[in-house]
Amino acid sequence: MTDHDIRVLDDSQYRAAHTLFRSTLHHPPTNDDAWKFIRESYEPGRALGAFAEDELIGTVQAFPSRMAVPGGAVVPHAAVSRVGVRSDWTRRGVLSALQRAQLRSFVESGDVVATLRATESLIYGRFGYGVASRYRTVRVDRSRAVPRTRIAGRVRLVDLEAGERIARSLYEEVAPRRVGTIGRWPAWWSMNLHRPTPEDNPRIAVRSSAGQDDGFLVYKVKPGAHDVSEKKPTTLEVVDLWARTPEAWADLWLFALGVDLVAEVVAFGRPVDEPVEWLLGDRRACKSFGEEDETWLRLVDVPAALGARTYRDGVPVLIGVRDTYLPDNTGTYRVSADGVSRVSDAPEVVLDVDTLASTYLGDVSFSTLAATRRLDVVEPDAPARADALFAVSETPWCGTYF
Ligand SMILES: CC(C)(COP(=O)(O)OP(=O)(O)OC[C@H]1O[C@@H](n2cnc3c(N)ncnc32)[C@H](O)[C@@H]1OP(=O)(O)O)[C@@H](O)C(=O)NCCC(=O)NCCS
Repeated sequence: MTDHDIRVLDDSQYRAAHTLFRSTLHHPPTNDDAWKFIRESYEPGRALGAFAEDELIGTVQAFPSRMAVPGGAVVPHAAVSRVGVRSDWTRRGVLSALQRAQLRSFVESGDVVATLRATESLIYGRFGYGVASRYRTVRVDRSRAVPRTRIAGRVRLVDLEAGERIARSLYEEVAPRRVGTIGRWPAWWSMNLHRPTPEDNPRIAVRSSAGQDDGFLVYKVKPGAHDVSEKKPTTLEVVDLWARTPEAWADLWLFALGVDLVAEVVAFGRPVDEPVEWLLGDRRACKSFGEEDETWLRLVDVPAALGARTYRDGVPVLIGVRDTYLPDNTGTYRVSADGVSRVSDAPEVVLDVDTLASTYLGDVSFSTLAATRRLDVVEPDAPARADALFAVSETPWCGTYF
């Protein structure tokens, strides 16, 4: 018998849940203007609350989405967000109870995977989430950033309404080509483009070639001093940039680097393999601020997730999976270039479901995880065989913050 219970929240409880979540991050309640946008993002049946004697003490929520997996398939995905437990109730199992209920609800709703962004890296592994993609921040000193090349197509500024329409349609077409990207829910766009905060003034640039729109850039300029040596330089922030072709990608970056009266161009959460440096005459004008974990991935339905992606040629491998929160996933899976099947054979390599999630999009190899003792090797050549099967050609990246 616990001293709290978990319930599905209804419309009348979303604002209280949001206020509770914000308080756990030490933020004040949201104002009425912003709430209009945030409210839309609460989906019926997808927000849970923990209650102690009818008082809300914790909450967790998820957006309905999809995720692109290696081989081109797109699987049902829940984007977990707004996780918080009131400070006078922490470390008493409230999040664990919320997680258990939420994972069960994902199984019921047919979500194959779930992802989240973690405030702290020690929280989510126990619930089966593993780091599956990384990103980096780049900062370009514009006074040194002389591009080696010029814009080849046409880049035009469009108003927010038209820009959103173009961006949404291009995103839906282009993003799923990259492993790890997710479907954006309608409220994501309104919250990110229209939510009124005085300092936000997003601009949208669209790139076209031969009359066809093939990429977009959302950016914001934070005014300051125009000299990068000043404490607060005028900064152009690349908020969102997606392109159908490498030519469109280069033109949009060249546009961002060419806006006048800007001292530095900053892009947070970009792919670790995005070659911005190579656009510049002086590559040291571009500083990369390390890599951080981006996607924390949970394989909710392990057989469905393993079956949805493709594998390269190679000798099959038997992978043993342990999952304490969703025990139906526990078992041995035979993975080969022809597909995946559940078998009763003894496994050749054994890992927890969070570790499997880290390998799933191809970001980290089984050999690396074996070397760091994150998995149990039964057959010495099994990690190398799994590496060959799970390899991908492009580093996974999500690119959508939520
Ligand atoms: C993170 C948070 C939701 C955890 O809630 P909680 O109810 O205290 O979690 P639980 O009691 O269920 O803890 C489960 C386990 O996770 C561990 N844990 C929880 N939060 C942790 C943290 N921040 N760092 C390290 N370990 C943590 C607990 O020690 C416990 O370990 P155990 O099972 O070995 O005893 C809560 O502390 C919180 O709201 N923090 C501020 C907001 C926040 O960071 N939200 C997350 C947004 S991604």
